[in-house]
Amino acid sequence: MNNVRVVLYGVGAVGSRIARFLLEKKGIEIVGAIDVAKDKVGRDLGDVLGIGKRLGVVVSDDVDAVLSKVKADIAVHATSSFLKDVYPQLEGVIVHGVNVVSTCEELSYPYVTNPKLSKKLDELTKKHKATVLGTGINPGFLMDTLVITLTGVCQKVDKIEVTRLMNAGTRRIPFQKKIGAGLTVEGFKEKIEKKIITGHVGLEQSIAMIAKALGWKLDEIEIDPVEPVVAKTYVESEAIKVKPGQAAGLKQKARGIREGKETITLDFQAYIGAKEEYDSITIKGVPDINQKISPCVHGDYGTVAIIVNSIPKVINAPPGLMTMNELPIPSSALEYMRTYIIK
Ligand SMILES: NC(=O)c1ccc[n+]([C@@H]2O[C@H](COP(=O)([O-])OP(=O)(O)OC[C@H]3O[C@@H](n4cnc5c(N)ncnc54)[C@H](OP(=O)(O)O)[C@@H]3O)[C@@H](O)[C@H]2O)c1
Repeated sequence: MNNVRVVLYGVGAVGSRIARFLLEKKGIEIVGAIDVAKDKVGRDLGDVLGIGKRLGVVVSDDVDAVLSKVKADIAVHATSSFLKDVYPQLEGVIVHGVNVVSTCEELSYPYVTNPKLSKKLDELTKKHKATVLGTGINPGFLMDTLVITLTGVCQKVDKIEVTRLMNAGTRRIPFQKKIGAGLTVEGFKEKIEKKIITGHVGLEQSIAMIAKALGWKLDEIEIDPVEPVVAKTYVESEAIKVKPGQAAGLKQKARGIREGKETITLDFQAYIGAKEEYDSITIKGVPDINQKISPCVHGDYGTVAIIVNSIPKVINAPPGLMTMNELPIPSSALEYMRTYIIK
């Protein structure tokens, strides 16, 4: 059986972790790597990953050159959060007939914020017989796919409440910076205004995916402004020190309104020094469901896992733009990767 051939697109914090995990797995190999960062382009991937050995794969900023040279089954894409930014990158892969699994948050359910671009992307994938999926720990699993799965044992669902509360101090440094940890409250607000801090991207996508799966038409999705979580005492991570009165991270809520009532509530909180970490899902219905994962699922491990575990599911899927609610239930691809490929 041939190995599944992967091209990495984005060798940043997440892409590098995915690469290291792929190198441990059987039946799958990295055949190309793409990134634009000056400190990575032209270097051997093994050196960029700092694994102490060369891999014979040179990081390139030219997607066409890479995909014309190697025969790839799938691109693992991890560059940025917004569909309009990643669309040209996805296009560059899809025109080669190569599938994509991406961490881009908006891509997890792109119809809600980018309906036109979603349609264009879907048409492009079908034309070139490729499948594209946006997934990750969140959006992609904890606040949407897992919620949808739990409703599978409900006869009736009246209300859904989901909370993800995490201690950002144990997460990757770009994430800690992304949530504004260590800034003054004024600095935090300024960065929010300038859209340097965007908060958690994905609440809207998760709500829309849940509603779609349940066949609910929502009146609207309300997204609260992102707010800083202000540290009461001194807290720190390996990289960031937060004084009392400074932002330790952020919090944000979003609601899906149906028939005038708040029906889906998502509450996201991530800050350095959080005492209790958990993921909880409460479903009011028949039966009621109260599920709590404590401590919460580690986002960095979880993202790497769900991206890699989704590879065979994306390869097996028909061409098109796919979302997690359209693919088989998530499961771990623990064995030789080709075991899971049915094509
Ligand atoms: N859905 C989820 O659950 C989930 C989970 C984790 C992460 N994510 C998202 O995944 C994305 C990647 O995260 P990260 O922490 O790895 O970010 P990161 O450390 O900034 O890495 C991104 C890498 O992609 C490169 N890049 C940017 N634009 C590119 C382009 N046009 N072509 C090729 N390479 C490009 C960057 O280069 P430069 O540094 O030069 O820009 C950087 O090396 C983020 O948007 C993050 O929010 C989603």
